[in-house]
Amino acid sequence: MELVTLVLLEAVTKHVLLPDDTRLDILRGVDLDVAAGDHVSIVGRSGSGKSTLLNILGMLDAPSSGSVAFRGEPVGRMGPAKLDRLRGRNVGFVFQQFNLLAGRSALENVAMPLSYASGRAYWTRNRVAAEMLDRVGLSHRLDSPPEQLSGGEQQRVAIARALVRRPALILADEPTGALDVETGTNVMTLLDDVASEADAALVTITHDVHVAARARRHYRLEDGILSPVQLEAAFRETALGSVSALSAEAIAGAEDGA
Ligand SMILES: Nc1ncnc2c1ncn2[C@@H]1O[C@H](COP(=O)(O)OP(=O)(O)O)[C@@H](O)[C@H]1O
Ligand SMILES: [Mg+2]
Repeated sequence: MELVTLVLLEAVTKHVLLPDDTRLDILRGVDLDVAAGDHVSIVGRSGSGKSTLLNILGMLDAPSSGSVAFRGEPVGRMGPAKLDRLRGRNVGFVFQQFNLLAGRSALENVAMPLSYASGRAYWTRNRVAAEMLDRVGLSHRLDSPPEQLSGGEQQRVAIARALVRRPALILADEPTGALDVETGTNVMTLLDDVASEADAALVTITHDVHVAARARRHYRLEDGILSPVQLEAAFRETALGSVSALSAEAIAGAEDGA
């Protein structure tokens, strides 16, 4: 795979001022280069700054210092309208809690990102949304609202919604966190497959090393510091104990995908 930089973070920091005037450093100098078609995992404990980092990668949040560039263009200098357009066209988000609109059908939820598009993308939005739902195996549930779907089905709808504008970058924030192990595995397989088909870069944030094992490159975020990890070491460090049959299988899966 030829590696062309899609999004580049250099020396990114993020801090917030707490109500008692103390400063909380959430990210402390993060460098990350995500290439087109790349598949990166980031593991870290709760509170380590994972969602903050993902929101900066997705241009939803700005760093306190350092730079973010998308396809070589500095994001910090863009106005809000340009930034919204760039994000809408290029970034798809998948969240732990799915974030679907209740009371709206699966089809409406998936078509929603296209309702801001213009021209053909707008007029064909329902057909394109139906095709995406078919791709994630939900062509029989087009009319069902999220509250009538299982957790795994809701996440498949959310994946269809994230992909409907054919984003170059898919950002998944603990996508299996609300699912049981088997459903989570199926959802991750689907996410990997649809990202690869679309040649999209996929950045998956997780606290589960088995989910992380599917990526091509692996990082750990600890107290706001991002460092590359060797997967075997990541397995050893977790409370999972010795490398089990399951993790061996996951490592083999990760190597297949490399
Ligand atoms: N806007 C904010 N104001 C205050 N604290 C924040 C804010 N955003 C994040 N934090 C804190 O920063 C830390 C990292 O948050 P987050 O990126 O959500 O971590 P993670 O996703 O790894 O659990 C947490 O301790 C969180 O409470
Ligand atoms: Mg988080």
